[in-house]
Amino acid sequence: VDGKTVEAAPGEMIIAAAERGGTYIPRFCYHPRMRSVGMCRMCLVEVVGPRGPQLQPACFVPVAEGQEIITDSPNVKKAQDGVLELLLVNHPLDCPVCDRGGECPLQDHTLGFGPGESRFVEEKRHWEKPIALSELVALDRERCIQCDRCTRFADEVAGDPLIEFVGRGAETEVNTFPDQPFASYFSGNVVQLCPVGALTASPYRFAARPWDLDQVESTCTSCSVGCRVALQSTTDRVVRKLGIDVDPVNQGWLCDKGRFDYESAESPERYRSPLVRRGDELVETTWSEALDLAADGLTKAVERDGGAGVAVIGGARGTNEDAYAWSKLARTVLRTDNVDCQLGDGLPAEAVLGLPRATIDEACAADAVVLLGADVKEELPVLYLRLRGAAVAGRTTLHEISPTATGLTRYTATSTRHVPGDSLGAVRELLASGALTGAESVVCLLGRSSVAETPEVAVAAAAALLAAVPGVTFLSGLRRANVHGALDMGLAPGLLPGRVGLDEGRAWFTECWGELPAESGLDTRGILEHAAAGRLSALVLLGADPLADFPDRDLARRALAGTGFVVAVDTLPSASSRQADVVLPARMAGEEAGTTTNLEGRVSRVFQKVTPPGTAWADWMIAVEVAERFGFDLGLESAEQITAEIAAVAPAYAGVTSERLAATLDGVLAGRADPDEGPSAEATALPAPSAGEAPEVHAAAASPAGAVPAGADAATREDPSADGDDQPSADDPEAGDPTDADTEPPALVPSLLTFQPPASPPTVPVADRYSLRLVSHRRLYDDGVLVRHARSLAPLTDERAAAIGINPGDLERLGIGDGDQVRVSSSRTALTLTTHATEQVPRGTAFLAFAQAGPGAADLIDIASPVTEIRVETL
Ligand code: SF4
Ligand code: SF4
Ligand code: FES
Repeated sequence: VDGKTVEAAPGEMIIAAAERGGTYIPRFCYHPRMRSVGMCRMCLVEVVGPRGPQLQPACFVPVAEGQEIITDSPNVKKAQDGVLELLLVNHPLDCPVCDRGGECPLQDHTLGFGPGESRFVEEKRHWEKPIALSELVALDRERCIQCDRCTRFADEVAGDPLIEFVGRGAETEVNTFPDQPFASYFSGNVVQLCPVGALTASPYRFAARPWDLDQVESTCTSCSVGCRVALQSTTDRVVRKLGIDVDPVNQGWLCDKGRFDYESAESPERYRSPLVRRGDELVETTWSEALDLAADGLTKAVERDGGAGVAVIGGARGTNEDAYAWSKLARTVLRTDNVDCQLGDGLPAEAVLGLPRATIDEACAADAVVLLGADVKEELPVLYLRLRGAAVAGRTTLHEISPTATGLTRYTATSTRHVPGDSLGAVRELLASGALTGAESVVCLLGRSSVAETPEVAVAAAAALLAAVPGVTFLSGLRRANVHGALDMGLAPGLLPGRVGLDEGRAWFTECWGELPAESGLDTRGILEHAAAGRLSALVLLGADPLADFPDRDLARRALAGTGFVVAVDTLPSASSRQADVVLPARMAGEEAGTTTNLEGRVSRVFQKVTPPGTAWADWMIAVEVAERFGFDLGLESAEQITAEIAAVAPAYAGVTSERLAATLDGVLAGRADPDEGPSAEATALPAPSAGEAPEVHAAAASPAGAVPAGADAATREDPSADGDDQPSADDPEAGDPTDADTEPPALVPSLLTFQPPASPPTVPVADRYSLRLVSHRRLYDDGVLVRHARSLAPLTDERAAAIGINPGDLERLGIGDGDQVRVSSSRTALTLTTHATEQVPRGTAFLAFAQAGPGAADLIDIASPVTEIRVETL
């Protein structure tokens, strides 16, 4: 290339090989993640052949041995001038009012490679501008240079071929099909891909100019895929989120929820200062008073009932550092193991953490992937893109086991429908069919196909696969933002940070943290049952809304009513936090730094970009302050120091240090050996030479203050920061003295949890012919706080999502029509719903999306029953 030698892989396009060799060839239509089309001709270079140099599009011609390429000859320059002059015949010169102005490849290439002036003086073409391709994407057609990037993305990558070129010649335009909007969960990607300002995102139009933007590279925390993003802000507001191309995770793509839900942080309803209950109202107060009241309520509960009377639900919203601080607070200060970051909508922590794990890349390269969970397109959208891409390219074969059809069904080799509650039977059927025979690598995507059935069903199915398929590995399909980080930090009963069991890790963590609860506690279901029976004195909701998110709303309602004292650490009002006695305002994504862990166990960093509203604090700071009011010093001083403490004490996080995380955009897989990092984390657990010895750093936790048992003499629980200061106080440097670890033999680093198959599968009643069995999981646009408070996303909640999906055959049998109002009853209650006839739902089953506005699935589900039977009758 221009006299330089470049090594290239067979099949690689000249444009890519040259770029690797340091020669940039201008381009518009070429994109490394999509099929080359050679549409724009901007990349013309001279390829020297037997007849001398010939102009060829560098994005369309693969490399060849000994090939000679010239990118800077007069001929190439003339071609580039010509292409740009022709593109500008019709392209408007409205850069000053175009969102792309300042970051536009057409501007840049015109300046860098263009002719400098044009011979065309004719009137340019005009179109009505802009037109809405969808609720989120606007199109200024006259700016389009017909590069085919948006249309290729929609078809090739998203599988939503809803935009296409229409018309001929100069009248060619991108448009949707008549009456069919560009309704794709991935529409924002085309805006990012468009090399000019033809496609713009409605939430960003005219919001900022590129030179006003400041950005950090962070991680999306709107679901557990953990896509890498650039978070861009101006005037201390996040105004844009762009996808970053990280090969093992999102490869540049984002879903629209992740891309646009930053708007929720600006909701006028954000909690900006602490609130305390005065009668029926929550009124604003100072941090000092709110923390005093929170700590007082929790202290009384601990004094009266010990740790059994207190519980913490939630923790998946924040960072790993937040979860770690609350895990430590709960165990050592509140003396309770009643902690759960899941809300009865996930899977038992032992299965998620104990099963042998797979990465997204491993799933996409596996001979077979068994899909055993909810609809990936709805719950983990960019994972859907990755799996769909792998299946379409023939790199893997998908086998789906699901009670209803899903977004991936049309890409599967086999798709087995089963009655809710019988995925084990479907797994056995799949195994017996021989579909997995000969597959050398099998990955199972394990999630919860329906919150209306007990999670034990999925666990039994996973156990059957594990027993029957040698070497099978599992990719977690849990959807909640940082649920994997929170589980890894021990926010589940019977679990301690770093994927170790409470009993296995007791000696180690007692040395690191101080005394731990004697027994395993309750999960969210247990906590709520305990509360409903009047046996819970205090409950902390850590960004959790059981009234909206727990599958059984009746139980959640009785539980909140039966709990003496409720503290909500939250960002936006929810049904549950509105009932709290104390509300402590927390930070959202983009407002705090730390780390998160995605569904693969990949740890990556998040950054603070903007100032939080009002006086909102990070969750970990709140934990530190609550502990101080109990007279304990958690020994946690900054997010970075907590990251270091996690790396030092949590076995699966050994070596996951800030330095290592800073050195890679890909993140670090916790609990997995890095081929470049020497022996596996499982083998060494903690960095030598301290292997086998509790490291010094966290001995700070077992400070003189930390040694004081809760419920002891009130004098020892003097408030160390009752000075009215509205910021977290600095920790006492003396409190960091390590305990004298020499007096006792050091504890051994505990080994990581392994999955114990259940003794027997759950007993599920036989379906009766008068009932339909309910399936319920989320859609992307649910009634969760992020969507509800994001201006642009809130209107996207599909009206049909509130309807109950029933097979047309069942509707006919019941004498009910499509769109009819019906009475839907379960053992819990009866609701009036609208029907939606759909072949996606097999006979005998009904689908109702979870977490939609108003009464819905959570009102029908009785968690005491392994499956939910419903009756559907005419009104
Ligand atoms: Fe290319 Fe943009 Fe036109 Fe689509 S709208 S074809 S991405 S220039
Ligand atoms: Fe964010 Fe998940 Fe969407 Fe990725 S798939 S952009 S992590 S919400
Ligand atoms: Fe090669 Fe468009 S980039 S033809």
